[in-house]
Amino acid sequence: MHLINCYTVTMKEQLIDRAIKVLNNNFQDGGFTIPSKGLYPFQWKWDSGFIALGFAHYDVDKAKSEIKTLLDAQWGNGFIPHIVFHNDSDTYFPGPDFHQSSLHPLASKKYRSTGMTQPPVFGFVLERLLEITNDEHGMSAFVKEQIDKVFDNHKYFYDNRDINNEGLVYIYHNWESGTDNSPLWDDIWTTMNPPDYTFERRDTSHVDASQRPSKREYDHYLYIIEIAKEHNYDDAKIAELSPFLVLDPLFNAVLIKSNESLINLYERFGGNQDKVDQLKKWQEKSIHGLNTKLYNEQLGAYLHYDLRSKQQLPYICSSSFAPLYSNAPNGHIVKRLTETMLEKFGDDGRYLCASFDPTHDRFNPKKYWRGPVWINMNWMLYQGLKKHGYYELAERVKSDSLELIEKNGFFEYFDSRKVNPDAEHNGYGGNNFSWSAALLIDFLKTE
Ligand code: SER
Repeated sequence: MHLINCYTVTMKEQLIDRAIKVLNNNFQDGGFTIPSKGLYPFQWKWDSGFIALGFAHYDVDKAKSEIKTLLDAQWGNGFIPHIVFHNDSDTYFPGPDFHQSSLHPLASKKYRSTGMTQPPVFGFVLERLLEITNDEHGMSAFVKEQIDKVFDNHKYFYDNRDINNEGLVYIYHNWESGTDNSPLWDDIWTTMNPPDYTFERRDTSHVDASQRPSKREYDHYLYIIEIAKEHNYDDAKIAELSPFLVLDPLFNAVLIKSNESLINLYERFGGNQDKVDQLKKWQEKSIHGLNTKLYNEQLGAYLHYDLRSKQQLPYICSSSFAPLYSNAPNGHIVKRLTETMLEKFGDDGRYLCASFDPTHDRFNPKKYWRGPVWINMNWMLYQGLKKHGYYELAERVKSDSLELIEKNGFFEYFDSRKVNPDAEHNGYGGNNFSWSAALLIDFLKTE
């Protein structure tokens, strides 16, 4: 029997109360929520989307405010940055003075931000907000008010980042993937030789360095940004010159899922036929691209495609399963993905779903995106498995997520080993982490 079935009503309520405290403590006067105190003192793009889903269950005004503050930082070309620097903070590096978003002529004049983005979650977030609130407190009106900004963001991606006109959009930085230090990128780092920069890391003063990227990895991260800055964050120049240029199955699956949601929402509201037609055209091309260029039948997984070396990167990670959340994979592919997940990630001694292949020698159970379990990935995998009819596996992903939080706290990421010889508990990275709290609320409130 899965642990979740053993939870009493009181245990669930207590967990939800604890999650609400985490979210409320991370909510800021400016109307947005930081991911975790000290470690992440600003507003992050995909965090905000997941955070809004937690708020929607108990404080709709905060959910709306979360979305509004993030989308308010959209640039004139539809781009939405990955960090919005609403405030100053000396607890984070690299901050606004390093990123210099104002170099781009169409950057927001109101907010400083980064010049890179993160997975485009807002389409599916808007649809889910309506599902959760059942249109209470005028959620339809709110979604109608915001939806065109999300459409414009998708247009930005297709106009500027689909350089081969194949429905797949590139990322130019590992921070855009969301899976910052995945072992996937190691192959790309060997093609670069950045300077040995002098800078003061802040993250390792909040979190044990063994759980964070190395100094040399940061050199690579900064170097890519320096190149983008030299060209004022011009998309065409970045596509031409960035040493990092990748088609990411997570990023593209999220775009496809959000396209689906935008189509559903526009059709529900009526009008905007031109936008629906455009979304359907993008969608057809993207699904085809995903299933041909990024799917690998032999490995039974979606892979990343390196646009510089013009080949798939042969590594399986939690992003390899992200397309489950969309309608892109057919029945055969869904079956193959679940087989791969169970075979490589799902033995009895492990919580699902590690962020990187636990059978691979680059797997590290403690180090950020090199192995630990992340709640936002599990939430998307749960939704996808359920939608495709794999109820038992979906329930396992969900009960593993809840057990990890219940036993360890609202950490940023978790060791996937059920018996962990290296630490007293399985929670790593930032504590009181907002999306872990928000998505626990969504898991428990939608049972
Ligand atoms: N998550 C990154 C960091 O560790 C930036 O998006 O700072």
